[in-house]
Amino acid sequence: MDVSAPSIIDLPPQSLRDAATLVAEQPLFERYGATVEALERAWRVGIEAGDRFEAAVLDGRILGVAWLVPSGAFARSPYLRLLAVASTAAGRGIGTALMDACEAWAFERADDLFLLVNDDNEGARGFYERRGFEAIGRIHDYVLPGLDETIMRKRRPSSTDRAPAATGTSQPPPHAPRRSRPGGSRRDP
Ligand SMILES: CC(C)(COP(=O)(O)OP(=O)(O)OC[C@H]1O[C@@H](n2cnc3c(N)ncnc32)[C@H](O)[C@@H]1OP(=O)(O)O)[C@@H](O)C(=O)NCCC(=O)NCCS
Repeated sequence: MDVSAPSIIDLPPQSLRDAATLVAEQPLFERYGATVEALERAWRVGIEAGDRFEAAVLDGRILGVAWLVPSGAFARSPYLRLLAVASTAAGRGIGTALMDACEAWAFERADDLFLLVNDDNEGARGFYERRGFEAIGRIHDYVLPGLDETIMRKRRPSSTDRAPAATGTSQPPPHAPRRSRPGGSRRDP
């Protein structure tokens, strides 16, 4: 058994603070002015609105988080609003496991997944490109003055069957990573 593989769960409400803390500690998000309190507030609003939060758990600790907004791109397509792995746990496959879960969720219900990555974040951009994301445009001075963002898009792989919409009972596609939900609950819109 691979003891170092994280479990991907729905972010339990009682773990919002732990997840927000690992995000707020990162230089990238500090630069954007993120604080634990502001993240927690924004996530509670997101949860109420039906956004999706994935958490990576290893040895009982939250080590990564992803925030997906179902129609956050152009009021049409899923948007990955945030992805972060604790700096102490980087390079151990946690980001990959979170992205596998995000893509499985997105492509179960849509043909595209979008995200933004800033020009100073070449590492993350390479990570997304290797997963099949394509840079489709740039936005100058968007989130922070003087910093450009690249819009990245991934199309649903043709091998992925999309579940029928609006059944309310859709199941993950066969390729979806196995999910465990200690204390978690589904919040599918
Ligand atoms: C980007 C991020 C989520 C990747 O998570 P991770 O758990 O470290 O990634 P993984 O261990 O799954 O790595 C997957 C691959 O991408 C590479 N990679 C990931 N992040 C990288 C980085 N910042 N620089 C260089 N390479 C990186 C890894 O080396 C690995 O390559 P390999 O498959 O050839 O071994 C994480 O580095 C992070 O939280 N960064 C800060 C926040 C951030 O940039 N978020 C994205 C905003 S758009």
